[in-house]
Amino acid sequence: MIVIGASASNGVDEKLASLLNVELIKVHHKIFPDGESYVRIPKSLKGADVVIVQSTYPPQDKHLIDALITVDAAYNAGANRVILAIPYLAYARQDRMFISGEGVSIKVVLKAIKASGVYGLIVVDLHKEESLKFFNGKCVNVTAIPELAEYIKSIISPDKSMVLAPDIGALERAKMFALEAGISEWSYLRKTRDKVTGEITFEPVEIDAHGKTVIIVDDIISTGGTVVKGSKIMYEQGAREVYAVCTHPLLVGNALDKLFKAGVKDVVATDSIPSRVSKVSVAKAIARGIESLW
Ligand code: R5P
Repeated sequence: MIVIGASASNGVDEKLASLLNVELIKVHHKIFPDGESYVRIPKSLKGADVVIVQSTYPPQDKHLIDALITVDAAYNAGANRVILAIPYLAYARQDRMFISGEGVSIKVVLKAIKASGVYGLIVVDLHKEESLKFFNGKCVNVTAIPELAEYIKSIISPDKSMVLAPDIGALERAKMFALEAGISEWSYLRKTRDKVTGEITFEPVEIDAHGKTVIIVDDIISTGGTVVKGSKIMYEQGAREVYAVCTHPLLVGNALDKLFKAGVKDVVATDSIPSRVSKVSVAKAIARGIESLW
């Protein structure tokens, strides 16, 4: 097996190759004067099974097209089977029509990846696992929750803590996190997002957070609005301190500053997207996915 590090692999390719103890080949990637991408694999892959690591953090469209071109380059270099491992899959939140006439972005993206001819697809903590139905092929959604929980255990005391999901959709993930971290209490807020403006509101809830360390667990932190409002509610309910944990730290603009200003003590995320708070790698989760796909 060979690991291929594509244009946006953020070091996950290196960690994965070293975990699997296999060769790593970095693609030769350049941008033409008009902005188009060029990808070449500088070595023969004749007969090899390969895993391409390519995340699709911003600029998402560029990184997506690079992923597709890299799959083609791998087959052209002689690869036998090609797995595409995408630490952060963009466009996952538009997973249905919220308002009539909208495009279902994740469907389009997964269909394009399928059409590239990949043998299999690995994604990490996809916003909604059900979206993989659009891929209609060999694929797996792996989770970095065990590694994130392991990290948080090293900085908090589980018996004085509770885990909070910002909405009911995130509850299963929060529960898994709590169990992995040895935390026996978890709960969720009731968040709604305006379909047009995107503005979020929380319904009033009674959660006994008195004197506790509250860990807000979500798949993505983008503008930070969800965690800022969630932590405000938790401090109002007596929380001693609030931490934020996510797999995908998009952290648009000054999101991280907003979180710290809101009293969030620390933010823990993975390297699916480069960030100042990427403290945990998704490489192990991807390695688990490879085992289940071959
Ligand atoms: C949405 O349902 C996701 O799970 C996250 O809660 C959301 O993307 C967070 O966005 P923001 O940080 O902009 O509030």
